[in-house]
Amino acid sequence: MERTFIMIKPDGVQRHLTGEIIHRFERKGFTLVGLKMMQVSRELAETHYSVHQERPFFKGLVDFITSAPVIAMVWEGENVVSAARNLIGQTNPTTADPGSIRGDFGVSIGRNLIHGSDAIETAQTEIALWFVEDELVDWKPVRQSWLY
Ligand code: TYD
Repeated sequence: MERTFIMIKPDGVQRHLTGEIIHRFERKGFTLVGLKMMQVSRELAETHYSVHQERPFFKGLVDFITSAPVIAMVWEGENVVSAARNLIGQTNPTTADPGSIRGDFGVSIGRNLIHGSDAIETAQTEIALWFVEDELVDWKPVRQSWLY
């Protein structure tokens, strides 16, 4: 089953949008298999965004990601990588579709609330970067009498 790496950025946490964001992924039908709140080191932020290291916004981006805690998650489900990108919306919240997380709650490109892996291969690399294997839980829905 496909998995993707999702991070609620410092602005999403500070604006108390964590529950709203998790709710949207759950309602879509995806399964949460890993979650942790963490203060990101500079080294981790720079590695995660290394593809952008020559871009003018790189230092500001790393400063921002390391400025306050984030919520790192792994979500599982059919086509979850591309479906998550749709739930998240385009990079710039100004042009992101209403109904997407960035379209509904974001204002500026540098404060766009959430990260989601952009391809299956990237997702695998990012999951391995942010989580160790035993932090991820393999589980399936059960049909039990206590589930109502
Ligand atoms: P990118 O990987 O292009 O976007 P996405 O998060 O949608 O996959 O860029 C990574 C982050 O860098 C982006 O979420 C916000 C920041 N960024 C800027 O601050 N300014 C910019 O001009 C761009 C392109 C990105």
